[in-house]
Amino acid sequence: MKILVTGGTGYIGSHACVELLQKGHEVVVFDNLYNSKRDVLDKIREITGKEVIFYKADMRDKESMRPVFEEHTLDAVIHFAGLKAVGESVERPLLYYQNNITGTLNLCELMNEYQCRRIIFSSSATVYGSPETVPIREDFPLGTTNPYGSTKLMQERILSDLCVPDREWSVVLLRYFNPIGAHESGLLGESPNGIPNNLMPYIMQVALGKLPELGVFGDDYDTPDGTGVRDYIHVVDLARGHVNAIEKAVSSAGVHIYNLGTGNGYSVLELVRAFEEASGLTIPYSVKPRRAGDIAASYADPGKAKEELGWEAEYDLARMCQDSWRYARHNF
Ligand code: NAD
Ligand code: WQD
Repeated sequence: MKILVTGGTGYIGSHACVELLQKGHEVVVFDNLYNSKRDVLDKIREITGKEVIFYKADMRDKESMRPVFEEHTLDAVIHFAGLKAVGESVERPLLYYQNNITGTLNLCELMNEYQCRRIIFSSSATVYGSPETVPIREDFPLGTTNPYGSTKLMQERILSDLCVPDREWSVVLLRYFNPIGAHESGLLGESPNGIPNNLMPYIMQVALGKLPELGVFGDDYDTPDGTGVRDYIHVVDLARGHVNAIEKAVSSAGVHIYNLGTGNGYSVLELVRAFEEASGLTIPYSVKPRRAGDIAASYADPGKAKEELGWEAEYDLARMCQDSWRYARHNF
């Protein structure tokens, strides 16, 4: 099949391109390179021996995306493009609504016009807000606490509403938990700009000696060691989930929603220890106050994805740490 990957030079999108190419799909990417670099395309070629077709386009500008649809008959779209920094979204809400919502509306209009009505969307566990219990199932109540999360929830609703009047639309909403790790080649991974907000990229900076110590945001949560618990998932496992999701979109119209997580929750300190073991390094840390908006524990019930997509995560925390470290060592 010929698949359009929006945001395909980004962290998760680039890994998805590799998995799609390795399964024999043709891949067309567009990205405005706001948070990624063009040389990712060379890395994808190096890993797979195959080319992706690339367009530099900004989804806020509908006409900049039109050539992609004019020049290719697409079987499905995987929609990764978007802004994703929670704190920045609080500071600059209009930027987030403009980019993520306008961009998605433009994309859907073009998909309608060119009769490509299958979309796999990058949603997030953030749409569950503060869940009352864990593990989190797809039918749990939804709610968000910041503009980034609100854009995800709104995009989910926009895409779901498309399926009401038009039975040809097929929408798969994938709610990711906490992606970490990198491609085993060491060629693809996450390279955040500036001081990282997320835990694993921060640990990488400390490991490389670029930041002095990790601040652990709270040790008085109602969790086994008091630090926050999350469902870390290897980005390659996550990427593979999208290949299965395409098969679902092709075989069944309407809206389908899946958690992509491992089902295991690890605390901040457990991740630090796993990383220390994988790298042989020591990560200095000190406990800081809780970070505003954080929840105690979030991990998936991934049962629905296993049953309906035939997908489950394979890589364990040790592997996630090894692969993150290999990428950081060679690229930062
Ligand atoms: P990323 O920033 O590495 O990739 C997103 C890509 O989209 C970037 O290459 C960026 O340049 C591109 N982009 C942004 N705005 C664009 C625009 N207007 N037009 C064209 N391209 C644009 O992020 P990622 O971690 O790979 O995340 C991919 C998707 O998954 C995002 O939608 C994100 O919200 C979602 N997600 C990420 C996480 C996570 O922790 N990484 C968790 C849940 C959901
Ligand atoms: C993980 C744990 C922190 C940094 C965010 C977004 C979410 C999704 C994934 C996109 C928490 C603790 C962190 C640090 C720490 N993104 N921590 N010191 O907050 O679960 O999710 O990224 O959709 O929407 O909110 O991930 O990696 O920031 O934090 O102690 O320097 O690590 O308190 O318990 P989070 P994270």
